[in-house]
Amino acid sequence: MPPSSSSAVVFLSLQLLGIVLLCSFLHGHAAAIRHHTFVVKEAAYTRLCSTKNIMTINGNFPGETLHVHRGDTLIVHVLNRSPHNITIHWHGVNQPRYPWADGPEYITQCPIQPGGKFSQKVIFTTEEGTLWWHAHSEWTRATVYGAIIVYPKKGHAYPFPKPHADLPIIFGEWWKQDIFELFDNFLQSGGDPLVSHAITINGQPGDRYNCSGQDMFKLSVDQGKTYLLRLINAAMQDILFFSIAGHQLTVVGTDGTYTKPFKSDYITISPGQTIDVLLRADHPIAASYYMAAKFYSSARAAVNLNTTTALLHYTTNNTTPTTAANFSAVSLPATADTNASVTFTARFRSLADKKHPVDVPQKADTNLYFTLSMNAAPCPAGATCAGPNGARLAASVNNVSLVLPTSMDVLRAYYRGIGGVYGDDFPSNPPVSFDFTNLTIPAAYRRPATGNQVRVLEYNASVELVFQGTNLLGGVDHPMHLHGTNFYVVGWGFGNFDRVNKTYNLVDPPFQNTIAVPRNGWVAIRFKATNPGVWFMHCHLERHASWGMGMTFIVKNGKGPNDKMLPPPSDMPPC
Ligand code: C2O
Ligand code: CU
Repeated sequence: MPPSSSSAVVFLSLQLLGIVLLCSFLHGHAAAIRHHTFVVKEAAYTRLCSTKNIMTINGNFPGETLHVHRGDTLIVHVLNRSPHNITIHWHGVNQPRYPWADGPEYITQCPIQPGGKFSQKVIFTTEEGTLWWHAHSEWTRATVYGAIIVYPKKGHAYPFPKPHADLPIIFGEWWKQDIFELFDNFLQSGGDPLVSHAITINGQPGDRYNCSGQDMFKLSVDQGKTYLLRLINAAMQDILFFSIAGHQLTVVGTDGTYTKPFKSDYITISPGQTIDVLLRADHPIAASYYMAAKFYSSARAAVNLNTTTALLHYTTNNTTPTTAANFSAVSLPATADTNASVTFTARFRSLADKKHPVDVPQKADTNLYFTLSMNAAPCPAGATCAGPNGARLAASVNNVSLVLPTSMDVLRAYYRGIGGVYGDDFPSNPPVSFDFTNLTIPAAYRRPATGNQVRVLEYNASVELVFQGTNLLGGVDHPMHLHGTNFYVVGWGFGNFDRVNKTYNLVDPPFQNTIAVPRNGWVAIRFKATNPGVWFMHCHLERHASWGMGMTFIVKNGKGPNDKMLPPPSDMPPC
């Protein structure tokens, strides 16, 4: 059950009385404003028989689940009591006209420094379903993440029979090393990062790993009931396959929107993506089944090959079922099964009914074509680099490898008209055209340009953006994520995008905030630029983002008074 909510008016008058409300118990039909406190602090956690200090919110790992109703506003008071910089992002929340609290470091804010605080207004409007929050500075999101459940408005129903209960299943990755050291070493090496030691479900590796059977996540269900599992991929480096032995799953939503229901034996989920599935508990009482997830990876680079597990118990009182779960009943696609990955993702369709209309631009007035590439940059003089042929690995969009500013964030520079922080020359097309997905691409194309360029969009522009994977250094899938708006995924394919011969779905395309561009393939998305502000777009594989696979959109203000960015809050973290 979600906590109850109060009307904004009731809340404000209580606040005047000096009463701190973490959560109120008054029912109301107006959207609610609720307050939460996020204390950033280190805490010791033990996994795989080894203990380390990790960054947490309020000492919890994974972090707490936020429950809201559609249209609510949250004010999250983030207090940094850790020794490290941090920022917090609300992944998939559009934050209309209010990029100030969006969170990506040096894009919309400078980090909250140790001892600092920042009260972030999180504005929910049309999102409904599952989203999540995570840190958005260096690699702190490795342990700083949690679910956001957006229930329908009070008195409104799900577009499917109300599930008996719902709960988040969050996938993550665990390294035995300190994350800050891991990140520094990774950047210094110029090569691939160390592979994580475990994949996790709700923070637990599960019984295929040493020392991890005892605390494995267990879900108790009643026979005959239906449960809503809110799957979230918070892993750092790879797309995942997930399945539950002996059960089919019915997909009903993704990225804070509903989809036409479809059944599947397995799920493919990208880092950044959420998928809502219904699970019907239709097996005998006292039985037990494995839930399992492992990485999908099309690249030759090293990958964590282990399987993380959790248990589904047919018992209500947490007693151990009489029949032990059988791991050999788990069926997951092979690690490099690109076909299994893309055919699942291609099945998503928007609900597209009266209550959930689709508003996909039928024509685009702004056409963008962005290549996504792995690159090799020269090794700095005097250093040794672990990338190909002694170079430094890098990544780029349209061959621009993003270098974040450090003196100030892009949003502040834009709002105050301060020069020298970013340029507005981000190319709408690849600077050089070649056969992007050819099996052999001349090494000369490997070298990226570097910089911090934004693409300015007119208010209300109908944008078509085609992501084009390239085979530079072998190519790999890229789960691309856009801040500030969901987008319609109107088409995809392998090879080079062909503007003439293509088929688009302009009827019921899925509405996502993250979409995996298949290895050596393309994906076309469309959206309307109706959210003025500064919005980051990047690959949600953390190593690719760190190597520069990201860029920023600035959506201009419109003419009307409600089409302009809101002013900044007074407590923006200092740079
Ligand atoms: Cu989930 Cu830019 O982030
Ligand atoms: Cu990528």
